Amino acid sequence: MKEEKPSIQNTVTDDIYYPSAEVVAQANVKDPETVRKEAANDIQAYWAKRAQELEWYKKWDTVLDESNKPFYQWFVGGKTNIVLNALDRHVKTWRRNKLALIWESEKGELRTMSYHALNREVCKFANVLKSMGISKGDRVTIYMPRIPETLIAMLATAKIGAVHSVVYGGFSVEALHGRIEDSESKVIITADGGNMNGKKIELKKIVDEALQRTGAPENVVVVKHLGIDVNMEAGRDYWYHELMALPLTRNGLRCETEVMDAEDPLFILYTSGTTGKPKAILHTHGGYQVGVYATLKDVFDLKEEDRWWCTADPGWITGHSYIVYAPLIAGATSFMYEGAPTFPYPDRWWTMIEKYGITVFYSTPTAVRGLMRFGEAWPNRHDLSSLRLLGSVGEPINPEAWRWFYKNIGKEKCPIMDTWWQTETGMFMMAPMPASPLKPGSATKPYPGIEADVVNEAGKSVAPGEEGFLVLKKPWPAMMRTIYKDPERYESTYWSKFPGMYFAGDSARKDKDGYFWIIGRVDDVIKVSGYRLGTAELESAFITHPAVAEAAVIGLPHELKGMAIHAYLILKANHEPNEALVEDLRKHIAHEMGPIAKPEKIEFVKSLPKTRSGKIMRRVLKARAQGMSEGDISTLEE
Ligand code: WT7
Repeated sequence: MKEEKPSIQNTVTDDIYYPSAEVVAQANVKDPETVRKEAANDIQAYWAKRAQELEWYKKWDTVLDESNKPFYQWFVGGKTNIVLNALDRHVKTWRRNKLALIWESEKGELRTMSYHALNREVCKFANVLKSMGISKGDRVTIYMPRIPETLIAMLATAKIGAVHSVVYGGFSVEALHGRIEDSESKVIITADGGNMNGKKIELKKIVDEALQRTGAPENVVVVKHLGIDVNMEAGRDYWYHELMALPLTRNGLRCETEVMDAEDPLFILYTSGTTGKPKAILHTHGGYQVGVYATLKDVFDLKEEDRWWCTADPGWITGHSYIVYAPLIAGATSFMYEGAPTFPYPDRWWTMIEKYGITVFYSTPTAVRGLMRFGEAWPNRHDLSSLRLLGSVGEPINPEAWRWFYKNIGKEKCPIMDTWWQTETGMFMMAPMPASPLKPGSATKPYPGIEADVVNEAGKSVAPGEEGFLVLKKPWPAMMRTIYKDPERYESTYWSKFPGMYFAGDSARKDKDGYFWIIGRVDDVIKVSGYRLGTAELESAFITHPAVAEAAVIGLPHELKGMAIHAYLILKANHEPNEALVEDLRKHIAHEMGPIAKPEKIEFVKSLPKTRSGKIMRRVLKARAQGMSEGDISTLEE
């Protein structure tokens, strides 16, 4: 049965879904093509106009400074702070009484926070951070479950001008250790634990283990969430609720928002790349706030009365941009859910859409495929009529999953916004708007002001329908500014393959109508259930196991996850390949990297295909595993 399902393939279809007159009539952008044309004529004028929709302490002198390519700068001379736009300006208006956040725990507890309440907690926690000696430019690691305190911690860090580094709560000891060490964080904010898939993850315990491997940061702040026993080291570890009750914070409702240069760093976020350790992608206050705000407002057509739900985790860029910053800047009400979509039953998400009257729902192809498996009886039990728009991100959505989502969740009246973007781009690069005609499986066209193309090895545009490398030809305000502490790597990874163009690392096709179809990664990034993992980081985690001499990891297509991890291992002399060892290795990877990194398949081999210089030829492994031609193997030395 599995064999005859080519459904995971993102095949180009010519079906077009046109929006209803009703959708077009209420869309913020009624005619996307005209806006695209106008923006293309003068991208600086376009972005300046969007930036004027926000507040600035001082207006910029220059919209875009291109004098030091590829180190572009936006809104140069401008003074701002993203928190000025996310909170400060709202609490001066009626919106102080509007809900900023509705949160439900996996067990079903409800918490809500108005803009006023969120601002109060952010001010208090900002004062806590200051009292710990954190100031402008310092790094703060945030390793949390999906709870409101994650947002509070991020916003408080930004408010005082410090730089957050959020590490996804599903990562484990070694992944966390590397990220704490590289960022040189002074403080870690974590929780005793979190609920994931009905399982309790003991986050503080993982922090303790990670800190044994590194020069300890000065302080650890622990949110009591599960109420489980944790080790608290005197003088280093503090309970969040105790700090928040101190006189300094009790009275400290007032906390000035730090005035930042538009180009000052807001956060770093680690992501996997082709080689070596993960890269710390750096984003700044000024351009980022403009980009995420404009894209959310146009693509998801956000309105004052909407209830927005992005199912991502705040620990990934989707969460940073479209759970935390953009919705708050837009003054929206967000819903956030702590746990698993199938807990306790596969209709948990549909139950909450009904219960909270969600109007715009943004999720992932993997989740759709996973829930589709349980059949449409689950969504059909619920009244989903509050929904008006759907969204997808993280990997190509196969037309079969798209149609299921469209029919069973959107009831054929909600357009699906398939958004293509990356940690590095900060904001949507390619996406339809509600008034755009849609083709299932295509992220449609670039957002206004974005120029995308598909090119061959020589950097020349390919013909419609031909596969090539996806590139971006113009800078945009929410673009990454550099790799933290490694500007050379920024230049060589993104800007040197095709001079003057941003190399995204994806392959794509553009059809005769100018619609883009993303095929997948062309580097050593594996998208497992939409999560981004790097072969290099996985391989180094394998070789820390005492039985492993050498490791090679590749991604192969998987019906549910999109891609799955396959590992080829050479064992050390005195170790026997057997089932027990496979189990132990899977556990080892989960412990070091996190459960998302567990390999689908482990194979023990005697040799690995390598080039003469010793580089593993993953392409050859991939071809062999899929029974395909090995291609040019003239450099192969096994
Ligand atoms: C990679 C970036 C920023 C969103 C979360 C992922 C893949 C992302 C799509 C889409 C096809 C997509 C690409 C991209 N990707 N969105 N709509 N259609 N592929 O961010 O972890 O930095 O991963 O995700 O391969 O390069 P990320």
